[in-house]
Amino acid sequence: MAIYGINGIHTVLYGVDDVALCTRFFDDFGLPLLEKSDQHAHFLLDEGSNVIIRHISDPAIPKSKLVGTGVQEVIWGVNTEEGLARLLKDLGRDREIRIDEEGTAHCFTDDGMAIGFRIFRKNPVVSSVDPANSPGNINRVNKHRRWIARARPKTIQHVVFQVPDTEASWTFYRDRLGFRLSDVQRTFGIFGRADGAHDHHNIYFLNAHLPFPGLDGKPRFDHVNYGVDDVDEIMIGANYMERKGWPKSAWGLGRHRIASSLFMYLPCPTGGQAEYGADSDHIDDNWVPRTWNPMFGAWSFVTNIQPFMVDAAWDFEVVDGYTPSRQAPALVPPTADAAAPEPSNDAIVPVPVRQA
Ligand SMILES: [Fe+2]
Repeated sequence: MAIYGINGIHTVLYGVDDVALCTRFFDDFGLPLLEKSDQHAHFLLDEGSNVIIRHISDPAIPKSKLVGTGVQEVIWGVNTEEGLARLLKDLGRDREIRIDEEGTAHCFTDDGMAIGFRIFRKNPVVSSVDPANSPGNINRVNKHRRWIARARPKTIQHVVFQVPDTEASWTFYRDRLGFRLSDVQRTFGIFGRADGAHDHHNIYFLNAHLPFPGLDGKPRFDHVNYGVDDVDEIMIGANYMERKGWPKSAWGLGRHRIASSLFMYLPCPTGGQAEYGADSDHIDDNWVPRTWNPMFGAWSFVTNIQPFMVDAAWDFEVVDGYTPSRQAPALVPPTADAAAPEPSNDAIVPVPVRQA
């Protein structure tokens, strides 16, 4: 398995219809603005990752097979010069690679999406999450939780694209970039992690043929996840956006079962959505990928439950072929009559149920 040391997303380059409007959105969203002009905006996050906004017709926007506005190019960071050189040597076997004046390498994936690579020395980031109290578990005495007025995302955790062939798009990342499989959401999509990163996923390929609004079978940008400290920062950010007049989230606050992550998706004038994310699983090569019933994996709770969210079959299983059995986690074995256990507060560790 290839090991290149891709350590995450260095830059997302948005192509948009209205640069000023999108710049104001991300300023209100809490991204730290480095510079802006009539033609562009550049936000620099604490970890050193970058968000660039340009008009969709700007010459700097690559001409790819992506349809519509939103993120037009993802620049992946690589830990070492040696890893970057090996990666580009391999990719150069069957595609043209352009190196720009800053040393970033640009090319296209097998499914025609613009992609780039450069050295990325991530800044360490710190969080000051408050200790939490719960019955019989007191960790904060004579002390308020901290009060903040704004969200300030520190990291770019993942990017999501709608694609017509999730397996084909994923195969390129797995076989040519060394990405690891994180999880599979059956019929919906595939989660992948860069080999030098520990986010649950850095990319998700969503099946563009699903019968949901905004999906039309074509390759389109879906969303970027921006990492914040905790649920308070998510909600304070969302409340601030609402006070500034931006549209509310359709689903509201929720938590995915896949990745365990808290989420808040906000409609974004770039096209697609901007997600506040917190408390995601942190994983390495000992992670055991699973396939999930799509609805079961998608939510453990959500504020505004939608009609299509009512199916909550208690259903996931380990992916065959990816995981040596010695790495399998200690799952709670089913009892004799536990073919379809009911979710309950007692079932802290869910019992795996294999569907016929
Ligand atoms: Fe996400």
